[in-house]
Amino acid sequence: MTTLVRNAWYVAAWSSEIDDTLRRFTILGDPVLLYRRRDGHVAALEDRCPHRLLPLSKGKRIGDAVQCGYHGLTFGPDGKCTRVPGQDKIPPSAYVDAYPVVEKNDIVWIWMGDPHRADPEKIFDLPQFYEAGWHAHQGDALYLKSNYLNVAENLVDPAHVSFVHPTTLGNSASENVPVHVSTEGPTITAWRWIRDAEPIGFFKAFGGFEGNVDRWHYYHLHAPSIAVIDFGSADAAAQIDEEDRDQGNRIFALHFMTPVNENETIDRWMHLRNTAIETAEASEKIDAMFRIAFGEDKEILEAVHAEEARPLKRRPIRLAIDRGPMVYRKRITEMLERERTDDVSAEPDGSYVYHD
Ligand code: FES
Ligand SMILES: [Fe+2]
Repeated sequence: MTTLVRNAWYVAAWSSEIDDTLRRFTILGDPVLLYRRRDGHVAALEDRCPHRLLPLSKGKRIGDAVQCGYHGLTFGPDGKCTRVPGQDKIPPSAYVDAYPVVEKNDIVWIWMGDPHRADPEKIFDLPQFYEAGWHAHQGDALYLKSNYLNVAENLVDPAHVSFVHPTTLGNSASENVPVHVSTEGPTITAWRWIRDAEPIGFFKAFGGFEGNVDRWHYYHLHAPSIAVIDFGSADAAAQIDEEDRDQGNRIFALHFMTPVNENETIDRWMHLRNTAIETAEASEKIDAMFRIAFGEDKEILEAVHAEEARPLKRRPIRLAIDRGPMVYRKRITEMLERERTDDVSAEPDGSYVYHD
């Protein structure tokens, strides 16, 4: 049974990845051709000619259209065939799927499901993208040989941080601090505060803290596959309230997980921050630290995926820390069930505009 939810906006690429050349991506198991039209808009077509199945990405641009590299069938950015060399009549089945695409916040969003349900208003957003005092910086497209559910549930699981990321995002001070979980509204949120503790490596590098800090981690996961990790630190002496996180050094790490297929995922990650916003050097240093941390996650998640492929002798055990991941998996099952039964009236509110 598939785990891939189709009726959702996924990140196909960073805007900077798409220009006028023909590029092939695989999203939810489907081959997708992305290119920029002359008016600057991004076109997204099924990357498979309906004649002998040659990927259109092996053809060439003719204006805004694409000419197949095998026998020259030509398709407009709407997927309609406009030319069949050697005959006047264009068969009705000569078309490729065209996917809804929207560019927002320098990100190319794609809708792989029922096109009639593609509502651009429901594309992920954060107020901090537009606020003064905040800086957005795009990181990498991290490839993981793991089902996206494993990748996503890791992002509503603060309990792994002390053990998987001891030098960057965690330290032993948080090992036994309980995790709170809220499953109300469209997001699942897991969070915890570690009060009056030594700063983690990340904020030693960026906070300039002399003594102990209060540190927070809020993991917001929106099904199917967007995670916002709000983390930061403030001087412990200031004793800030939970709602006053802007007074500290605060970073939103955003993860947009796009399933390549059932066994592979691209995690495009970026961050927004309210600290050291003017300097490119800070972005590079943060990227370097994230690369260490997300490389640690990749190793774990690929190993877990490999074990899942073997026959299991018994069901994995569940612990108190698993509440967020369990609710997440349940939501995915419900979304898949809705798609299978095609119950339009039960369509969830897919909007995800996160307000602090
Ligand atoms: S395979 Fe594309 S035109 Fe023949
Ligand atoms: Fe992690």
